[in-house]
Amino acid sequence: MDFLSNPMAMSSAALAIIVSFLGVQILARKMKKDKRKKKYHPIAGTTFNQLLNFHRLHHYMTDLAGKYRTYRLLSPFRNEIYTADPANVEYILKTNFDNYGKGCYNYVMLKDLLGDGIFTVDGEKWRQQRKISSHEFSTRVLRDFSSEVFRKSAVKLAHIVSEAATSNRIIDIQDLLMKSILDSLFQVAFGIELDSMCGSNEEGRNFSNAFDDSSSMTVFRYVDIFWRIKKFLNIGSEATLKKSTKIVNDFVFKLIHNKIEQMKNSKDESSIKREDILSRFLRVTGDDPTYLRDIILNFIIAGKDTTAATISWFIYMLCKHPAVQEKIVKEVKEATTNKDISNYADFAAAIGEEALEKMNFLHAAITETLRLYPAVPVDTKICFSDDTLPDGYNVKKGDMVAYQPYAMGRMKFIWGDDALEFKPERWLNEDGIFQPESPFKFTAFQAGPRICLGKEFAYRNMKIFSAVLLGCFQFKMSDENKTVNYRTMINLHIDGGLDVRVFHRNGN
Ligand code: HEM
Repeated sequence: MDFLSNPMAMSSAALAIIVSFLGVQILARKMKKDKRKKKYHPIAGTTFNQLLNFHRLHHYMTDLAGKYRTYRLLSPFRNEIYTADPANVEYILKTNFDNYGKGCYNYVMLKDLLGDGIFTVDGEKWRQQRKISSHEFSTRVLRDFSSEVFRKSAVKLAHIVSEAATSNRIIDIQDLLMKSILDSLFQVAFGIELDSMCGSNEEGRNFSNAFDDSSSMTVFRYVDIFWRIKKFLNIGSEATLKKSTKIVNDFVFKLIHNKIEQMKNSKDESSIKREDILSRFLRVTGDDPTYLRDIILNFIIAGKDTTAATISWFIYMLCKHPAVQEKIVKEVKEATTNKDISNYADFAAAIGEEALEKMNFLHAAITETLRLYPAVPVDTKICFSDDTLPDGYNVKKGDMVAYQPYAMGRMKFIWGDDALEFKPERWLNEDGIFQPESPFKFTAFQAGPRICLGKEFAYRNMKIFSAVLLGCFQFKMSDENKTVNYRTMINLHIDGGLDVRVFHRNGN
């Protein structure tokens, strides 16, 4: 068409140009406005900085949290948002709970070891397991049975510690606690003795080693970008994971089948003690071995390192604060009405529900330890759809959003100027009664609908272990000038263990 010779066409074309020009202008203005409207948290660094600071990762992230409260780290795969702001924490863990979960990212990493257990899944699968497990965890049977198991394990450990005290031998108390807690949880889960602490049972020892290997190889996936290729080729850490998971599974499936057979063959149903978790779940969920394996392995993984590491940090704190150690001993003595400590089993038997209730200072000191050394130092979620956090900043679908118990425990804006000091008293009222804090400030057990299911269980057991050990022994660092550090992994372990000297309290 010849535009120049056709005024109509010319004016239409001019109109079209003007309209499209205006359109582009409006669109550009809208995009600019959208861009202006959406704001994202300040970029504090990249995940490369995390790698450079790997051995002091939580120190690095605490410094950033002090500066920004909530910040982003750029990563080649996704935005990573880290928050220490209690309002944001409440929002992701409770207010908009359905929008933040494990996601495929965590599921794929964890499923080889943890299957479809409570730790790996979201939505309906999670809701179902949470409902059944919360019910079972709150039963009196499980409470009484687990307290009994923990008393027995603490006594067994006390005998080992006693030998070390008598021979003036240095012991790594973290290592002993890891084994003792695994034995206790195994007993609570299956109703049988694993005895990894003394190593008397070879199958049990193999399981225990394979279990530790498979959990550390699973954790390693989070920092190893080549893990999928290694899994495909079955080499390195992935070959170890495959081998150790098989040992774990074979052992657990054998126990499940034995229990099912035992229940089927028993003529007198009432003669079977149904105290352990496996027996109880067999009754309520049916006998699908894979489902039972998932429930039980998730329970052991959830409880073992968290509890053992917390008691270890607690003993470390008490070595550094001997006055607090003595105050706890005084409270334990009073609560057990000065029970003779020469017989450990008798002494442990005096640490019942009523005595534990009276130990407010011990409860406060353990909580203060968890504030400064939370067993899960950083906890990550995946954002399922675009959102705005309470601080006004946006997050995008697929972003990783993490709250940081370790950094939060050290924030002056949350705990005041003495945030870095170990002060159990901050948890007590004028009458010496324990006062809980908002779970969105004290986040060691997570909060909201997915709050740790074993919180009460863990406190009871940590208090039993601590009361038995501190009631009978005095703890000192083998090198009193030494300060320990954490090892960077999913749970906050003491790097290299905790070497202590122990002394009998009854003068033996
Ligand atoms: C000091 C001890 C403990 C601490 C600090 C602790 C902390 C936590 C944390 C931070 C979570 C959330 C993890 C996530 O994002 O998925 C969690 C979940 C959980 N914990 Fe604990 N835990 C402790 C002991 C225990 C024990 C002894 C048990 C079992 C007996 C247990 C059972 C669970 C379970 C089943 C979940 C999953 C809850 C869910 O997803 O609905 N925990 N715990």
